[in-house]
Parts: sequence; structure tokens; C-alpha cells
Amino acid sequence: MSEDGSTPPERELDRMDVHELGRLGARLDDVEIVDDAPRHEPGSREERRAYRRVAAWFVLTALGAVGFVLVFVLWPWQYTSEGPEQTLRAWFTPMLGITFAISVLSLAVGIVTWSKIITPEDVAVQQRHDGPSPPVAQRTLAARVVELVDQTGLGRSKLLRRTVLAACTAVAGVLTVTVLGTLVRDPWSEGPYSPLLTTGWRSPDGERTYLRVDTGDPHSVTLLRPEDVAAGGMLTVFPFRESMRGDPEALAEMLRAADVPVVIVRFFPGTPVVERVGQEDFHLDGLYAYSKICTHMGCPASLFEQTTLRILCPCHQTEFQANEYARPVFGPGARPLPQLPLRVDERGYLYAPHDFIEPIGPGFWSRDPRG
Ligand code: FES
Repeated sequence: MSEDGSTPPERELDRMDVHELGRLGARLDDVEIVDDAPRHEPGSREERRAYRRVAAWFVLTALGAVGFVLVFVLWPWQYTSEGPEQTLRAWFTPMLGITFAISVLSLAVGIVTWSKIITPEDVAVQQRHDGPSPPVAQRTLAARVVELVDQTGLGRSKLLRRTVLAACTAVAGVLTVTVLGTLVRDPWSEGPYSPLLTTGWRSPDGERTYLRVDTGDPHSVTLLRPEDVAAGGMLTVFPFRESMRGDPEALAEMLRAADVPVVIVRFFPGTPVVERVGQEDFHLDGLYAYSKICTHMGCPASLFEQTTLRILCPCHQTEFQANEYARPVFGPGARPLPQLPLRVDERGYLYAPHDFIEPIGPGFWSRDPRG
């Protein structure tokens, strides 16, 4: 013992096992361990049954997590409006939620069950005292931690060790997959025709892309003529190609695509207009078409102020001057709304001879900052 009789000499400490060191540490900290007897006889049937109960929850955790990853990677998620895929797709998000909930809830239940039926109840009473712990207290604390880990049963049960490892690995896998999974697609895989650089106004095989009005029926087709747009008015239009006619899926898809809405405006005769260099021939008899996707953060710029000729984005109040190539004149937007070229065919319908000549919407990495 030390001079004050509270600390055993080094030799005696070396002889103590983790249980005795743990008790000593508790005594030195003025902690009285009232009860920490194991709940079951080590190696008994009850103990093995308790291990199996806890392990079952961790197996369920792992299965839920693996299910989540499989749903995330393999489940059809792309929108379809008809057919059996529609039902499957509708279940994509619920299935993510269900599998994730199974995984997290069974992990929580497993941990609670573990503490309830395996680890000792460990009733202890501690007196508070101030100041840093002496070295012997640190050593005995370490011993107590080792003892506690031993009491969890991890050291004795291979089943428990494996299922805990499987559950933790599976949950870590879920987190990794969800964080990294969305980054594995290459947005530039199609070069200049990559999704961020093109929109539905690009016709892959040269077919004419007409301006279509949304009538509320996703399967009906109403094309636009120049005279349909009144002076001072604004209309929203979507792309249409004859090959889509009779294809409800393609027709509905074009109304839903995030990058295709275009606003078309007509100015009163005599309105002064400033054309953007290189886009002087994009307009048609006072008709100008601009991407509806705000260049600030992608909201639909859906308001038109007739007196000032400004297109307004309601999200953060960027105002685009429609008669000056839709350049931003107020608010946080920094780039003009991209302009869509317009032509009229022999039947009098408006069409776009090609896609926008710059990416639409907000800025993104590797976008030309001048665009
Ligand atoms: S998204 Fe349009 S102003 Fe912010």
C-alpha cells in the first residue's frame, strides 16, 4: 500500500487480474460497485440463447443494409407513366425507406437487447471529487474498460463478434454507397452531347423540333404559330418532334424534363432590342425564346413584367431584361437566359433549328464561366 494506505504497491498491482484492478480503480474513485454479476452462467444455455437473440437483430441489420444497397443500385427508378415498371418505380423511394428503417431499427433494438440481456446491470455509486486522476487510477480505469468489454460477451461469443462486425460493415456500406453512389456516373461520357451540355431541344437525328404548348393533357399535341403569341405576352413551350406523335411516354416525358421549358415573348412593334453578339438571327419577327431555367439556381423564371419587359424569377428575384438578350439586370443571377433560335416551317409552325448554343441553368464545374 502507499503511504496513505490507499494504493497497493506496483508488485501487488501486477498480480491483480482485470476484475480486481477494476474494483480497485472504483474504490480509488470513491465508487462502490454494488452489483455487476453476469446475467448468465458463462457457457450456459441461457447465455448462448441470449447471444443468439442479439445476433438475430444484427443479422437483420445487415440484411436491411444489403437490401438498401441492392434497391439503391438495381431498382428501376426512372419515371414511366405506364406499364408494370410504373408500379415498380413508384416503390423505389418506399423500398429505400423500408430497408433503411429495418437496418437502423434492428441495429438499435439489437444494442438495447444486448444491454438488457447480456451485459451485467452494473449498479455503482460514485462520490464526486475534483482534480486529475493519479497514474494508478488511469491504469485501473483501463483495466475496468477491458473488463467491461469482456462482460459484453464479445470475447466469448464468436457468433456475436461476427454479427456485430457484419452489421457495422453493412451500415458503413450503406453510408458509403449513398454518398459515393451518386458520384459514379460520368456526366461527360457523351462528350459535347453530354446531358449537362444539351437539352431536349437537340434533335439527335436532325428531325425538326417544334414548339409545343402544354394544354394540360400530356398526350395531346398543340403546336405554336407566330400569331398565337400576343404582343406583350409570354408563353411557355416544350419541344415536340413528329416521331413522338402517338407515343404517350415520349410526349409526357418532354413536358416533365427539367431542362426543356422555354418562354417565348413578343415585343410591341418599335420596342428597342439589343441582340447578343452571334445570336442576331435567333429571333423571328419580334418573337424571342429564352430558357425558362433561371441561371442563378435553376428555378423557373416564370413571370413577365410587360411595362419593363423583364422576366422575373420568383425564387431570389433575379430580373432578366427580355429585350436585351435576357441579361440579368437585378438580383443574384449572373448570366443571361440562353436564347433558343426560332424558325417557321412551310405550314406556319414555329420550330427550333438547333439546341441552345450554351448550357442552360446555373453554373457548374467545368462550365465556361463566360457562357
Ligand atoms: S433561382 Fe432564380 S433568382 Fe435564384
